[in-house]
Formats: sequence, C-alpha cells, structure tokens
Amino acid sequence: VNPGLLVPCLAGCALTEATRSLTFPISSSFLLGHLPYFWKKDEVCGRVLQDVFLEWAKKYGPVVRVNVFHKTSVIITSPESVKKFLMSTKYNKDSKMYCALQTVFGERLFGQGLVSECDYERWHKQRKVMDLAFSRSSAWGRCGFSGKRHPEAAQCTDTRGPGLSPSSAPRGDAPSSAPQAAFGMETSMLLGAQKPLSRAVKVMLEGVSASRNTLAKFMPGWRKQLREVRESVRLLRQVGRDWVQRRREALQRGESVPADVLTQILKAEEGAQDEEVLLDNFVTFFIAGHETSANHLAFTVMELSRQPEIVARLQAEVDEVIGSKRHLDYEDLGRLQYLSQVLKESLRLYPPAWGTFRLLEEETLIDGVRVPGNTPLLFSTYIMGRMDTYFEDPLTFNPDRFGPGAPKPRFTYFPFSLGHRSCIGQQFAQMEVKVVMAKLLQRLEFRLVPGQRYGLQEQATLKPLDPVLCTLRPRGWQPAPPPPPC
Ligand code: HEM
Repeated sequence: VNPGLLVPCLAGCALTEATRSLTFPISSSFLLGHLPYFWKKDEVCGRVLQDVFLEWAKKYGPVVRVNVFHKTSVIITSPESVKKFLMSTKYNKDSKMYCALQTVFGERLFGQGLVSECDYERWHKQRKVMDLAFSRSSAWGRCGFSGKRHPEAAQCTDTRGPGLSPSSAPRGDAPSSAPQAAFGMETSMLLGAQKPLSRAVKVMLEGVSASRNTLAKFMPGWRKQLREVRESVRLLRQVGRDWVQRRREALQRGESVPADVLTQILKAEEGAQDEEVLLDNFVTFFIAGHETSANHLAFTVMELSRQPEIVARLQAEVDEVIGSKRHLDYEDLGRLQYLSQVLKESLRLYPPAWGTFRLLEEETLIDGVRVPGNTPLLFSTYIMGRMDTYFEDPLTFNPDRFGPGAPKPRFTYFPFSLGHRSCIGQQFAQMEVKVVMAKLLQRLEFRLVPGQRYGLQEQATLKPLDPVLCTLRPRGWQPAPPPPPC
C-alpha cells in the first residue's frame, strides 16, 4: 500500500466520522469526494463550479458539505450566518483555502500579501498602512479618474468611425487604474496581449486555476505549461522588484513621489518591511485590482449588449448629467444614479470574485446543523445572488432592484465581501468603472460581435466565456446610404 495514499484516506475516514451530522445528501467517491461532480459542470459550456454549488444550496438548504479528496468544506447560504461569520473579526480566512494563491506550483505568488495573509495580527498591521492610501478622495485626485489622466479611457472613447479592432476589446484591455493607484505604474505597461507582462498575468491566472488540480504537477503533458507558469510568476515579481527599487531611490533622493500604496508602505516601515512581503503586495494589487475591475467592465458590456432599453435609459442619464463635457467631476458620479444601479446589478449576476472563506475553529451549530471545528466555510455572493429565496426572478437583469426606494439586500449580496476583510479597493473600483462606463456611453454605441456566448468561465476570478469583442460606433452614427444607381 502506498503510504502517501493511505494517510489522506485515513484522514478522510476520520473527517467523515466527525462530520456525520452535517447535511450530506450527495454521495461522494471514497477517494475523490465530490470532484467528479465538479468535472461534470464542464458538460454545459459557460457553467462554473459555483453553478454546481448553487444547485446544491437550492436543493439541500443553507448548510451543505463538500468533500474534495480528504478535505471537507461547508457552503453557507443563510443571511444570518453571513452576518455572523463575515462581520466578526473572530473568524478569519482559512490558510488551507488561500494556499493556492500564496504559492503556485512552488513559486511564491501572493505570499503574505493583503488578500492571502490569514493571520489576523499580521494582516491588520498591513491593512492599517494601506487604508491611508485608499481613501475615496485620494483615489479620485491621484488617478485622474476624470479622464484627464486616464489616457486609455480617453483613447478608447475618442475612437472615431465605426468598428474597433479585436485588440481593443473590453475584456483583455479594459483600462484599469489599480496598478497606478497602488504603485504609480502606468497601466499602458499592461495593455496589449503581446506585451510580456500582460501575457505573464494571463499564464499565471491559468496556473492558479490549474493548481487546484492536485495531480497537475505530476502529469507529463503539463510540464511545459508548469514551466511557463513559474516563469510568469518570476517575471511579475521581478517587475515588482525593479519598481520598488526605483521608488526607494526616488525617496532617498528626496524627489516628489505619488502618495500611493507603495510610498505608504515604504514610509511606514522605514526599511523594516520584509522585501518579499512587499513584493507579495505588489503582485496582489496588480492582480486583485486589475483583473476584477476589467472583468466587471467586460460583464457589464456583455449584458448591456442585449439590453437596448436599459442602454437607452443610461444614455439619457449620461446626457443629462455630463452632456458633452470631456472631463467628469467627482460630483457627477453621485448623480449617475441609474448607472450605479446597473453596475450593482451586474455585480449581483456576475461577481468577478465570487466570495470568500472563513475558518471555523470550534464545533458550532450553524442553521441547526452541527459543524465540527477546523472546517473551512464558503460564502458566495454568486450563489446567494442567484437564489429566488433572496432575489425575485433572479436570472433577470433588473437594475431597479437597486433603485432608491427598493429594499436593500441584507447579507445576501456582497461582491466586495463584508466586514474586516472586505475589498480595500471597493470605492476605487466603483469610481473607476463608473467613469469608464459613463465615457463609453457618452460617446459610443457598442455591439457584440456575433457568435459570442453569454456564459462564464473561472480563471482565479470569474470572467466572460468569450472575449466580449465589440463593434464600436460614435453615437447616432448611421451607415451611409448606398449610392444611387447610375
Ligand atoms: C470590481 C472590482 C473589484 C471586486 C469585485 C473586488 C472584490 C473583492 C473581494 C470579494 C475581496 C475579498 C476576497 C477574499 O475574501 O478572499 C477583495 C479583497 C481585496 N481587494 Fe478587491 N475587488 C475589486 C477591485 C479591487 C481593486 C481596484 C483593488 C486595488 C486597487 C482591490 C484590492 C483588494 C485587496 C488588496 C483585497 C484584500 C483586502 C483585505 O483582505 O484586507 N480590489 N476584493
């Protein structure tokens, strides 16, 4: 008997015994647990693992147990428990679930950066420093959201004439200011699929997804891919190293530098910051900030391409609030009420980050079910956002759910997570995406290039299944009438 297999099997049996009181209606394979169900999701194109969990939550209630090999986790979908576990600092992230982000195939990726640090004290020390750099007003001023210092947005919305090449499609190239806000990096470094950094991000994200397959690193066919993933992670960290070095030298020379996250960290730590943790955060902000906002934009454009009435209402609002103004003012954002509703509704159906995990340290009764200690709890805004228990007619895209008079969802909608580990870039991302959408709607009409599907895929984050290639035209553009016959 292979002892390497025996240990997980015995551990699996022990856990199975300990968790008998948990809802466990779905039979699972002795060795693989529920993995075969996960693979089945691929039979329907555009479905993600969260769709499998959604079915289970609807069928079996608010506490559902999932087994993968010898590991058990529990999906929780009651608002009371979301409130209890996400709103209290007593419950922290579970390092077992975040190790796939900390290290990918042996290469340090997010390490102990802000997303993947699970120890409360160490996380809190970092967060205090970074919160200062992320206040609402500094994000607006620093990043030139108004469009004055957002060259990609301007470039995109200034496009004249019909049609846009595929390389300008929203998903891959959606402008995002996150790296600039956090590290003063020009986002043009990321644009263009051919650029090495852009490719490294793509390969690395595929690697994060692949690393969930425990057997991947042992499969001979994967060797080349694994090498590329490791090289990509190393490249990302090297770029970070160079960037940090440049900023440190600028600070030492007494030059004026942006008041961003990087400066904040370097100043606060006065050289004591562990260099590797600094790089962890470089990668964290680079990815957490860019991917999520870009996918949010892409999903929104994808959905709006089949909602002409909503687009007409959006255009009317944008015309009224910003007219033909080239640059937006901070106050304009608050007046774009319907656009806010559309973006919220987009995050309900298409949250780029589907949810989060917390570690349950001690045995606890959750919604009437005894859950043993040392169990990861999964909370998903994707699942709860698509349940008719919480949202009427949940698959219909209806921004009026978030209208001024509508009841607010209570602990059933949390695209930026909730409580102490909620997204540090939430306000930043909301402003950024709103500005880009407002400028897009102000000047352009967009149509999805035919043949693309409306499904989702998961690559560390949720993103559209197809690239959301669009044809862009100036608003009000009419095709020239055909020449009269001679
Ligand atoms: C639409 C855009 C965004 C969405 C939907 C989103 C969503 C989320 C979610 C759900 C979490 C919790 C993750 C977890 O519990 O594992 C999170 C955390 C985080 N996000 Fe975002 N995010 C967005 C944009 C941004 C931006 C623009 C930045 C940075 C510039 C950013 C930086 C972070 C960081 C650093 C954390 C970890 C916070 C902590 O634990 O203290 N995010 N985000």
